[in-house]
Amino acid sequence: MDTKCIKWSPETGFDKKDLAQAAAVIAAGGLVAFPTETVYGLGGDGLRREAAKKIYEAKGRPSDNPLILHIAGWEQLGSIAERIPLVAEKLARNFWPGPLTMIFRKKDGVPDETTGGLDTVAVRMPDHPGALAFLAAAGVPVAAPSANTSGRPSPTLAAHVKEDMDGKIDMIIDGGEVGIGYESTIVDVTGKTPVILRPGFITCEMIREVVGSVETDPAILQYGQVEEDVAPRAPGMKYRHYAPRAKMTVYRGAQPAAAEKIRQQILQYISAGDYREDEIGILTTEESLWQYPRGQALAAGSRSRDTEGKYLYKVLRQFDELGVRVILSEGFDDSPKCEAVMNRLLKAAGQHVVEVD
Ligand code: TXA
Ligand code: MG
Repeated sequence: MDTKCIKWSPETGFDKKDLAQAAAVIAAGGLVAFPTETVYGLGGDGLRREAAKKIYEAKGRPSDNPLILHIAGWEQLGSIAERIPLVAEKLARNFWPGPLTMIFRKKDGVPDETTGGLDTVAVRMPDHPGALAFLAAAGVPVAAPSANTSGRPSPTLAAHVKEDMDGKIDMIIDGGEVGIGYESTIVDVTGKTPVILRPGFITCEMIREVVGSVETDPAILQYGQVEEDVAPRAPGMKYRHYAPRAKMTVYRGAQPAAAEKIRQQILQYISAGDYREDEIGILTTEESLWQYPRGQALAAGSRSRDTEGKYLYKVLRQFDELGVRVILSEGFDDSPKCEAVMNRLLKAAGQHVVEVD
């Protein structure tokens, strides 16, 4: 299949013909990758089984892992969610459009293929003018997981989507680099108290301020040895996602001690002949790049500009391209906002952590 690439930019928006073509692909049951404020999504008509099947196939994703429906307007929610609880209304008023996905009881029209057989459905209204224009033109809820091959880091550039999806999908909308760089917060609003199933840019504190109380799925807070009996409630959270090819370890602890420990480990690797210097990757932030004169240090974002994690997935892909065989990463524990970044890091590292006192 020939994958067509069209452009959207904040200055010029879409070419009208391009947008009509993207909508036509969705109407014909095809797949369009599109930018959002979090990561690129791989979209298909959320109300058609064949489209969902194509998404699983293109990603190589297990079909028990449900998809998020993306909507352009509040009025679309009524056609897919059985009941809209008051907390959901409050959260939507505060955070939609935005990086928040809510889980509702589903209406019958939403096929099992989209929800992985669950009787609930995940819904999000992205805060991205290009995504909203595309969704409005499509006119249906668009099912979209992150547009990466299953097990690869989520795409934050159209080039990443191309790497994974070229020849497998109908169209890619190139909207440049995304703003946040990691996936939305998922909140289950079907019970009495909302429960966070996946941390994201919208933090626990931000949600608590709006709805009073919120819980977090205990399965996503654990690190170190994963206990088999604590299955996460968002099926996708159980898979080892975002995995770079290199063996990765997160050095958890305060600076400058963690950086010191990482430098020592690098020297040890080099002197023992375990790895060549160019085979050692260091994952840090813009402010700390200078701390690592040996090895290949890349920044996942900036602490001072509040963009921790913006380049995390991009950098994980870069380490693969550089042929790095081992990655030593700083931890991100200093604020509630970083919980999401730390969660992705720990998954990339397969929960491999060194505690630094
Ligand atoms: O930011 C995002 O959320 C991006 C962009 C494209 O919107 N999308 C995204 O989709 O991250 P995906 O498929 O990579 O992750 C969806 C997650 C999975 O962990 C899945 O298990 C969970 O949402 N999920 C979907 N429907 C669910 C449901 N009904 N109940 C519990 N978890 C659900
Ligand atoms: Mg994903």
